[in-house]
Amino acid sequence: MTDTYTQFVNSGFGRSLAKQLGLPAPVPLRRHTKGGPLCDGPVAVIGEGEHVSDIVQLLLDHGIDTSTDAETYGGVVFDMSDARSPRDLAHMRENGADIVKRLGRNARIVVVGTDPDLLDAPAEVATQRALDGFVRSLAKELRSGATANLVYAPVEHNRPAVRSAVEFFLSGRSAFVDGQHVRLDENTPGVNLSADEPLAGKVAVVTGAARGIGAAIVEVLARDGATVVGVDVPAAQDALAKVVNRARGTSLALDVTAPDAGERILQHCHKRHGGFDIVVHNAGITRDKLFVNMSAEKWDQVMAVNLESILQLNEVFLGDEGLGTDGRVICLSSQSGFAGNRGQTNYSATKAGVIGLVDTTADIAADRGITVNAVAPGLIETEMTGRMPFATREVARRLSSLQQGGDPVDVAEAIAWLAQPASGAITGQTLRVCGQNFIGA
Ligand SMILES: NC(=O)c1ccc[n+]([C@@H]2O[C@H](COP(=O)([O-])OP(=O)(O)OC[C@H]3O[C@@H](n4cnc5c(N)ncnc54)[C@H](O)[C@@H]3O)[C@@H](O)[C@H]2O)c1
Repeated sequence: MTDTYTQFVNSGFGRSLAKQLGLPAPVPLRRHTKGGPLCDGPVAVIGEGEHVSDIVQLLLDHGIDTSTDAETYGGVVFDMSDARSPRDLAHMRENGADIVKRLGRNARIVVVGTDPDLLDAPAEVATQRALDGFVRSLAKELRSGATANLVYAPVEHNRPAVRSAVEFFLSGRSAFVDGQHVRLDENTPGVNLSADEPLAGKVAVVTGAARGIGAAIVEVLARDGATVVGVDVPAAQDALAKVVNRARGTSLALDVTAPDAGERILQHCHKRHGGFDIVVHNAGITRDKLFVNMSAEKWDQVMAVNLESILQLNEVFLGDEGLGTDGRVICLSSQSGFAGNRGQTNYSATKAGVIGLVDTTADIAADRGITVNAVAPGLIETEMTGRMPFATREVARRLSSLQQGGDPVDVAEAIAWLAQPASGAITGQTLRVCGQNFIGA
């Protein structure tokens, strides 16, 4: 779906008109390009926490200037992991406000804290929890495609995990992730084989791969080095073949609700690829109706595709023949799963169910080093959202900090990051990819 308003306000006339009338002024987002820079411009590192030297090293490894006397900044990282009393938080204002004032287009703010759930004293917990409110508000104050996100590190130093998360939030991979946090656990993550192809050697199964977000996931996972198995319903076989051929993967025409779906995916992966490492449960449908008018058919179909199929497939994929050590399971939730949506009792129930499923399945899979996470997209420009009434879609686009809908690639980038070996310290979480949509934020 083309966002003609964003195109208009980025033309000369449109820009000045939007300024005069005080209209939203979304800018084209900076997205990841293979081999491209991590950030545009210098990144300041502020704070005295234990991660400062590692963060500076990460930036130097990317050839990024870390001086604090630049005119414009591409980003700022606050290491507040050592903050233990509310008074410590003032450090960010005293040392960071002037730099935030000088952020350029599509800049990044990343705050590193300590996971409050791992602290005991009320003052310590309150201080670290405060960072979440700070980041959410700061993200709403930023303009021109800039984002602010929070990384909660474990009390025990987990250097590779912190490095991977800070890198993601500084990069163009997180273009549509704004005002969010991730929690890192103490498990030492694996190592990405290459910076350009972090998924090299991995085999990934993607359901609902024929179009929309699923097709973007196939493309991004393949770009990052994975061999992809695309799954979609037989009716979408031609479209699926095109997507998968472009990615040099293999396809499997299959309804994920079929009782033998798990076994058939398993057989395909073992026969064609010798196994699999990553599963993305992307297939999903909407059958909207007000609850009072909801037919049994609409209710049951949505439950079967969006929730029951994932439970059923995971039984097989987490069994002996399924995912090996360092496996990755990534599900698609939705903003509707957090906020609810009129006419979507069935859909929102399934997408909230996914959040619970991920939380519990992560515990079950932890012994084998398998992580289980979800991403929850906000408004993403696909055929599914192309069917929304014009005015509803327009309001949904502008009611976010980034003042626009996301592209399928934005969801795919978050999934590809969670699939990396270096993301092994993230499990049981749902990461929102919504541009900090104000609904349910
Ligand atoms: N587009 C958005 O704004 C948005 C927002 C939040 C969540 N999501 C979620 O992201 C996922 C992808 O959404 P999309 O917008 O790309 O949807 P889409 O309708 O464009 O594509 C969904 C794909 O899933 C396939 N599919 C449906 N039922 C299937 C089944 N039983 N077996 C196998 N494949 C099946 C379809 O054929 C289609 O190719 C869904 O889970 C959706 O709920 C999308």
